[in-house]
Amino acid sequence: MTFGDYQIELYLGALGGTLPAHPFDYSELEANALAALPPELRTYVAGGSGNEATQRANVEAFDRWALVPRMLNAHAERDLSVELFGRTLTSPLLMAPVGVVGLCTPDQHGDIHAAEVSVATGVPLIGSTLMSDPLEDVAAAAGDGPKWFQLYTPKNRELAASLVSRAEAAGYDAIVITLDTWVPGWRPRDLASGNFPQLRGKALANYTSDPVFQEMCGGPDADPSTVVFTWVGTFGNPLTWDDLPWLRSLTSLPLVLKGICHPDDARRAIDEGVDGIYCSNHGGRQANGGGGALEWLPDVVDAVAAAGSDAPVVFDSGVRTGVDVVKALALGATAVAIGRPYVYGLALGGVPGAVHVLRSIQAEADLVMGVDGYPSRADLTRDALRRL
Ligand SMILES: Cc1cc2nc3c(=O)[nH]c(=O)nc-3n(C[C@H](O)[C@H](O)[C@H](O)COP(=O)(O)O)c2cc1C
Repeated sequence: MTFGDYQIELYLGALGGTLPAHPFDYSELEANALAALPPELRTYVAGGSGNEATQRANVEAFDRWALVPRMLNAHAERDLSVELFGRTLTSPLLMAPVGVVGLCTPDQHGDIHAAEVSVATGVPLIGSTLMSDPLEDVAAAAGDGPKWFQLYTPKNRELAASLVSRAEAAGYDAIVITLDTWVPGWRPRDLASGNFPQLRGKALANYTSDPVFQEMCGGPDADPSTVVFTWVGTFGNPLTWDDLPWLRSLTSLPLVLKGICHPDDARRAIDEGVDGIYCSNHGGRQANGGGGALEWLPDVVDAVAAAGSDAPVVFDSGVRTGVDVVKALALGATAVAIGRPYVYGLALGGVPGAVHVLRSIQAEADLVMGVDGYPSRADLTRDALRRL
């Protein structure tokens, strides 16, 4: 059984009279999912910063690289597996942390459903700080499978320590610190519609379930406006390199820094004891005016290697297809995180919708590796690519 066999399942289903329930084309997926979402979520999920040039560049950057086919190297089975922090994943995919995924299913338990998608696909969820259910419940739904927790570092250090120790106790395998969102980026679509779900008390379950946060609010039964006011006061910690030893000291779990795009930052992070680098520009939601995140990936990968490290480099921003995944791997990513596509899958079709999205990406990656004669990840080097 290969990932590519998903296409056989689909063709056989059609022969039996069942056509696929969900789209394959990303634009169609996005349009249908946005139509299914409540209006106040549409701009928040689909929008980006400024005139969204960076968001578009993220996607376009993949078209500047071409995979060169190699022949007489056909293998009936491809190996997409990857070892990450001591656990073997069958495919090199992760689900990127998405703060409002909890709100993207009608029952408002989208974080739990994302965890169920991870069980169904083997693709680990990186659970966001901004969940609609407490991180413990989301971990329980993910079962024994690998799962990571993403921290938006609050100003209150005790609260940061509490969130990390809860994640450790709940069985998360790694802590991802997101560095690019200590202040929200300039997002015209959200500004025009006044959308910021957290200011309406949404996706704050990890705060309201936290004993330190409850104390900050004056007790566990604080009224909603006190909760929001307290959250606003502590959300974004403007971190500097001086804070890294403290962050490192919070956990013995692998520590991954998200938002690293410059090779000097990658090298310094490795030198200072970080276990993984996550190259991302937050899907173009934070800073406009940058290029596609893929443009920064090779230098980041090289910097990690130059630091004498074999720390994994995770990549996201603009990944829409299995071919995109293969290109990012060939540029040196250890694993690739899927953001908006799985969220749209959940919004459109719940767990089966997101499973379809991830299985389609896995299948296309597997099949293009087969057809193009790169049967394993080890074959996917920069020699497989030409810059157009
Ligand atoms: C609606 C939305 C919410 C997000 N929330 C978070 C978050 O809570 N934490 C985080 O580190 N990144 C967050 N991100 C960024 C994603 O982790 C990822 O970097 C981004 O989605 C990649 O871009 P793409 O979805 O266009 O491929 C969010 C992205 C979106 C679209």
